[in-house]
Amino acid sequence: MASGLPELPPEKGAWDEQAISRRGLLEGALGALAVVGAVAVIVPAGRFLAGNSLEPANAQWVELGAIESFPPDRVTRVNFTTNSKDAWRTVSRRGTIYVYSDDGGATFVALNGTCTHLGCMVQWKAEEEKFACPCHAAAFARNGDVLSGPPPEPLHQLAVKVENGKLYAEI
Ligand code: FES
Repeated sequence: MASGLPELPPEKGAWDEQAISRRGLLEGALGALAVVGAVAVIVPAGRFLAGNSLEPANAQWVELGAIESFPPDRVTRVNFTTNSKDAWRTVSRRGTIYVYSDDGGATFVALNGTCTHLGCMVQWKAEEEKFACPCHAAAFARNGDVLSGPPPEPLHQLAVKVENGKLYAEI
């Protein structure tokens, strides 16, 4: 038989090759739907697990403010907006940087306030001495280390520099 089906005994008649062909088509369509469904689940799950660590970065220096505006005994929040141009468009980035000093203001530490899980902004909870992410209840220590929750890595520490009495962070 041309379709590859086995011979039937004469009293059984013949295969309904059209019905078999429709069933094969239906099975194929269901298989394709299953693959699409699996991809729809696996890709976001992978993104959830990989977190924000896959985001590309175009480094640039951001002015945070005058040195005097960062009391060394507390964590100071700075919101920033940057604009960068490539050949076709201008890209704006907004974010939050937290600044503190461990040596009385001789040097400063700047942490990117973007959660390393899925990119929400963390908030400094001074009374608890930790950063909290409102999206999935993560917590980070003052130095950015993960205390709890799904973030795959600490808050990113940024390079800092002082020029003309102003503090800058490379974001
Ligand atoms: S974005 Fe998920 S814990 Fe911060």
